[in-house]
Amino acid sequence: MRGYFGIGVEQISKEGNIGNLMRSAHSFGASFFFTIQPAIDVKGIRATDTSGAFDHLPYYQYEDVKEMSLPTGCQLVGIELIEDSIELPSFKHPTRAAYVLGPEMGSLSPELQERCDHIVHIPMKFCVNVGVAGALVMYDRLISMRRFPPRPVKAGGPTEGLADHNFGHRRKQRTQK
Ligand SMILES: C[S@@+](CC[C@H](N)C(=O)[O-])C[C@H]1O[C@@H](n2cnc3c(N)ncnc32)[C@H](O)[C@@H]1O
Repeated sequence: MRGYFGIGVEQISKEGNIGNLMRSAHSFGASFFFTIQPAIDVKGIRATDTSGAFDHLPYYQYEDVKEMSLPTGCQLVGIELIEDSIELPSFKHPTRAAYVLGPEMGSLSPELQERCDHIVHIPMKFCVNVGVAGALVMYDRLISMRRFPPRPVKAGGPTEGLADHNFGHRRKQRTQK
């Protein structure tokens, strides 16, 4: 798959949620994980991290939004159920992306929303758990950016393999004079 992604969360306050989100990030192939102003000792949750994500995933901790820094060319995608945000199934994921979720008892801060290049929401009746929301967005990235055999017309597994990759025409080489 082309590009990379990282995922993070602002003002997280529950160990179980961060462990859950990190485990999913690790499993979906995230390149880094970050927190902004966490309300718990994130490094202290190592003991409850069963997938060993801390040993395999670079972790960055920022004390506030101003301190947050991302790799050059990496677009920040806020995940929040707010008006005027983009519906996830219609969103084109950036090749280089950092996704950020809000706290369990609130929403992405106005300052963080301001920094986002895009804000997306998962169309549903009400908010779900922060770890679940993160996993759904990572899954959407996977199915929209990786190639899979097409879904069949009838219920069940695929009936055909991957279509051949269609390479573009070769560009004409400039001849040097
Ligand atoms: C449990 S929600 C926070 C509570 C929520 N703001 C409320 O009104 O009750 C925690 C975080 O999960 C993410 N989240 C949950 N459901 C979402 C959805 N349907 N679309 C986008 N983000 C969602 C957001 O990042 C949110 O800040």
